[in-house]
Amino acid sequence: RIVYVNGDYVPEAEAKVSVFDRGFLFADGVYEVTSVLDGKLIDFEGHATRLERSLKELDMASPVTMDELLEIHRELVRRNEVAEGMIYLQITRGADADRDFAFPDPEKVPSSIVLFTQSKKLADSPAAKVGMKVISIEDQRWGRRDIKTVQLLYPSMGKMMAKAAGKDDAWMVEDGAVTEGTSNNAYIVKDGVIVTRHLGNEILHGITRAAVLRFAREAQMRVEERPFTIEEAQGADEAFITSASTFVMPVVEIDGEAVGSGTPGPVATRLREIYLDESR
Ligand code: PDD
Repeated sequence: RIVYVNGDYVPEAEAKVSVFDRGFLFADGVYEVTSVLDGKLIDFEGHATRLERSLKELDMASPVTMDELLEIHRELVRRNEVAEGMIYLQITRGADADRDFAFPDPEKVPSSIVLFTQSKKLADSPAAKVGMKVISIEDQRWGRRDIKTVQLLYPSMGKMMAKAAGKDDAWMVEDGAVTEGTSNNAYIVKDGVIVTRHLGNEILHGITRAAVLRFAREAQMRVEERPFTIEEAQGADEAFITSASTFVMPVVEIDGEAVGSGTPGPVATRLREIYLDESR
């Protein structure tokens, strides 16, 4: 596999970053995950726009322009012959030789950029046919979840809590309402109405979320962007999640309670089909 590191395309064994990299020491970095279907990037524009916003919110400079970034994505897909899978991109505030809480001067310490690909079957997913089981956990992340930082320890712990309970993922709850999944946005469907939490600092503004809500409205489905509780979700007709790596994925159980029939519902199934059709 060929990896992109600060201007060079190198074999993965040679892809290295400094021990002083602030991403490594302070989680001082942002990332994006863009999916690839039939060798084509899905929604690159959306991911690039969100990346620019994350960088701006953290006062971090980009080492490349968004046009260059698109070219790097395409080049990696070509070189690694990715038909289906993901591209991971990370930008950190570089490697300052002294560990210092204060940000270094970007002129002296330029940002560091890394991209790699991961080939994986995404469209033809067995999980989409059976649906996922989730548990609920308290949301203990920081307050700026709208910024896509590499600070992923709590979501990672949430995934482990779900695994320990024999389930697939965790939905996080704050002040009684669901924020999102460990690495995805959360939805319920009741009487034909799709409900998902409103945008704000409490959740990541999913690129897949934006696309799916647009497709749902175009298909004359009703959408409400507001908070919902675990109890409301357990009593819903359907539940599902969205993300760049799962597209639309049904959720069939929450904290041991079956949602609706306990099998993937018609709305989630239809939205997954529409999303795949429109993205291809
Ligand atoms: N995760 N919420 C969180 C906390 C996420 O980490 C993600 C994405 C999403 C969905 O965003 P999008 O639709 O833009 O992928 C929501 C990526 C896939 C990851 O960390 O691997």
